[in-house]
Amino acid sequence: MENSKPVLILGLETSCDETSASVVENGSKVLSNLISTQIPIHRLYGGVVPEIASRQHLEAVNEVIDQALQEAGVTLQEITAIAVTSGPGLVGALLVGVSTAKALAYALKIPLIAVNHMAGHIYANFLQDPQFPLPSLCLVVSGGHTDLIAIEDHYQLKILGSTRDDASGEAFDKVARVLGLPYPGGPAVEKLAQQGNPKAYAMPSASIQDHTEWSFSGLKTTVINLNHKAKQNGEVLNPADLAASFQATVVDSLAANVRKELGKGGYASLMLAGGVAANKALRLGLEEVATEFRLPFSVPSMDLCTDNAAMIAAAGYYRYLRGEFADLSLNAYPDLRLGQEIPLQREKEGSR
Ligand code: KG4
Ligand code: ZN
Repeated sequence: MENSKPVLILGLETSCDETSASVVENGSKVLSNLISTQIPIHRLYGGVVPEIASRQHLEAVNEVIDQALQEAGVTLQEITAIAVTSGPGLVGALLVGVSTAKALAYALKIPLIAVNHMAGHIYANFLQDPQFPLPSLCLVVSGGHTDLIAIEDHYQLKILGSTRDDASGEAFDKVARVLGLPYPGGPAVEKLAQQGNPKAYAMPSASIQDHTEWSFSGLKTTVINLNHKAKQNGEVLNPADLAASFQATVVDSLAANVRKELGKGGYASLMLAGGVAANKALRLGLEEVATEFRLPFSVPSMDLCTDNAAMIAAAGYYRYLRGEFADLSLNAYPDLRLGQEIPLQREKEGSR
């Protein structure tokens, strides 16, 4: 880097149920990563309640930023740029982060960077290893998304295939509900699955034949129906076996599409990202696929898999290097897709 002054990015993440602020130096050194979670509050309702989420973000955001700066040992005046999640997510929740970031960027006269939440998840991998080889194939699995992404160059992300209905994390959450487990369902299902037999129940694959797409609704319905029929017949199902069989089918279905894509060639590495990437069976399953194809494999450490602002600051750093800044008209984009990035999308619209 020609300039020896470090690039300090303040990242903000408020897209769902975590209020998070982080300071990251030069895209990879995490100086702080504060997360104020709302999970215990939403657990009372069995899922995220949007209005409660917005209010909680509002209450927490300033304090979380102050703590992140304090822990990093830097002042606001030393921050180079602010990176904020502008979508996808809950609109009211996103707006808290976006308006806070706009106010700070305006007051400090520093660049504002819009980050796609899913790009953030991917960039948790580059936080760990900025030299991780490209082009890379990344499987992104979260509560709202299941996408297979090609990363040709930094922040050049292309969706190759997605789920046609439920996201994989959503399937975990719904199956957890059927099994009477608390929100968020993924970690609870994983824990139960550890005591079960993954071959106990036959379940349909979520991978769509001849496509790099998924459909998780059939798999979810199979679990619901098994449970329902057993209840009607007065039978007792083994919940651990059910959880283990479901989890194994999710892992196999995700791995199947990764294999299809890697089989086409042209990739230098494989990555896994998103909240569901915290699942140990999935981490192991995808590592095996990478080994089959003799590719290096990367997955974020457990604490960087679920929502956090360090991943947003890391992704923001690469947009900073490309000079892709947002202006003060930045909004929250609840359905933002990868590849329709702000401000590029707005420029395109304006030029029509
Ligand atoms: O990425 P994330 O924190 O938030 C979204 O952007 O959606 O992902 C949350 C999702 C939830 O559906 C949760 O149940 C799932 O990730 N999850 C897991 C595990 N930990 C979190 N799913 C399976 N196994 C886990 N260990
Ligand atoms: Zn997420």
